[in-house]
Amino acid sequence: MPRLDQLLASLGYGSRREVRDWIGAGRVSVGGRPATDPGARVEPGSVLVDGGPLDHPGGLLILLNKPAGLVCSHGTAEGPSVYGLLPERWRRRNPPVTTVGRLDKETTGLLLLTDQSALVHRLTSPRHKVPKAYRATLDREPPAEAEEILAGGRLVLPGEGKPCAPATLRRLGPLEMELVITEGRFHQVRRMFGALGCVVLGLHRVRFGDLELGSLFVGEWMELSINTFDKT
Ligand code: URA
Repeated sequence: MPRLDQLLASLGYGSRREVRDWIGAGRVSVGGRPATDPGARVEPGSVLVDGGPLDHPGGLLILLNKPAGLVCSHGTAEGPSVYGLLPERWRRRNPPVTTVGRLDKETTGLLLLTDQSALVHRLTSPRHKVPKAYRATLDREPPAEAEEILAGGRLVLPGEGKPCAPATLRRLGPLEMELVITEGRFHQVRRMFGALGCVVLGLHRVRFGDLELGSLFVGEWMELSINTFDKT
């Protein structure tokens, strides 16, 4: 069982020192009694802060409809990041909340965030072949043989030796495509269409595994059960 002060600090309530002050001020209870010992080993479910249960002590999994113009990195050097959309307490958690893979700054759509590193690994490892579907708007029509090249795993990206894993291309309109891939190489979709002679003018992720955005507006997020991908 974790120490009370460590538990609260790791869930983003404040520094160890700050949470000790909260304990001293009587804002924390354990098992229905005011907590007095910051070092006590506690069951997270028995802890209340200001009378309320702890904020996701078992981990976080978030589904975000990413807007254009936000980066997926933690730093601010490349501009505002998706983390700025989340509640401040979640941004202070440790282990930190990170994106499951990344979308480019101008790519929109389905983005997952979690504090479970094993889940990130499982969902991004090409070994697990989790399908990710993208809608792309192109500057020109891909060649007639594009479907076959992609499905056959015969597309090699410039500068890479290993061909991309088989991918499915569906033409939704002359310049509107859906591409489903199971890897997550750097700028992969843009580079795949680039290798077919097309420039991607707009890119939106519509599916991740079986998950879709549903009625989430751009910039909105929702919490998912931490067990969502248990069978993936
Ligand atoms: N492939 C890209 O090129 N960009 C993304 O954001 C995601 C996949």
